[in-house]
Amino acid sequence: MQKKIEEIEKSIDEAVKDVQSSKTLYEIKMRFLGKTGEISSLLKNMRDIPPEERPSFGKLVNALKQRASERLDELEAAIKRVELGKKYFREKIDVTLPGRCTPDGAFHPNTLIRNELISVFAGMGFEIYEGPEIENDYYNFTALNTPADHPARDMQDTFYITEDLLLRTQTSAGQIRVMENKKPPIKILSPGKVYRSDDDATHSPMFSQMEGLVVDKGITLCDLKGMLDEFAKKIFGEGVKTRLRPSYFPFTEPSVEVDVSCFECGGKGCRLCKGTGWIEVLGAGMVNRRVLEGCGVDPDVYTGFAFGMGIERIAMLKYGINNMKLLFESDIRFLKQFKG
Ligand code: DAH
Repeated sequence: MQKKIEEIEKSIDEAVKDVQSSKTLYEIKMRFLGKTGEISSLLKNMRDIPPEERPSFGKLVNALKQRASERLDELEAAIKRVELGKKYFREKIDVTLPGRCTPDGAFHPNTLIRNELISVFAGMGFEIYEGPEIENDYYNFTALNTPADHPARDMQDTFYITEDLLLRTQTSAGQIRVMENKKPPIKILSPGKVYRSDDDATHSPMFSQMEGLVVDKGITLCDLKGMLDEFAKKIFGEGVKTRLRPSYFPFTEPSVEVDVSCFECGGKGCRLCKGTGWIEVLGAGMVNRRVLEGCGVDPDVYTGFAFGMGIERIAMLKYGINNMKLLFESDIRFLKQFKG
């Protein structure tokens, strides 16, 4: 028996000689100490041993088991330490390396102004309505009190698609669509692209406008003026004042041109305001009663005001951009400057 035990001990020596991985060591453990392993199997032969020798045999086997498991456990701990060290080395992270940056984009100046305008007017309770860019003659002109032979049609060079269909020249067309579909009180803001056959440093065949329309009982020019004061302060700065100059639009009566005091020089006169101290920012007026009537709104009960501005124009003024083309060329060197 003693011999058998020594043999097992020898084969353990043999087996662990070049073990380097915990996986192989596990297999060795199973081979000797597992339920059906070589050491446990020794006990199965108990029957063949004379009863008086059994207790001492059992002791020997148990002692062997004890020694073997202590030895293998120690070895296992040592191998695991080495393996862990290797793993840490492999997965080492240099926390001092600079990170990889994802370049972040920025909003286009048009979008910045559009969002700013929307947030100012939304704060006053305006809702957004976006009309179609392809309009028919009725919504773009006739319903806005501009019939076919009206000289005001010459104010805007129109892109016609057919005799009746055109690319809208003004977001004012949306006013009609809203009034046809909604009873007053109406308070809408209508941003969108418009098209005119016009092309120079301050004009582009496609540009964007922001239209506003308020219709309710008792709306006056004073309401328009008050709202514009608020708008000018929020967009151009607290100290900015507004003034109304008489003008003409077929769909408003009276019509006004709205100036803001020059936010660059404070009104003293500079290059931006061309020495006048004032900058024209939008057109507005009281909705012409013929327009209200045409949309089924009783002008003896309801009145309203409307206004329309060019988004590119506001962006150019606010950011000091001198050529409208810059807003359409997508030159990254230009656009980068608007990173918030
Ligand atoms: N639609 C005009 C234009 O494109 C701008 C305008 C003027 C809009 C007066 C209005 C308004 O709503 O009341 O030139």
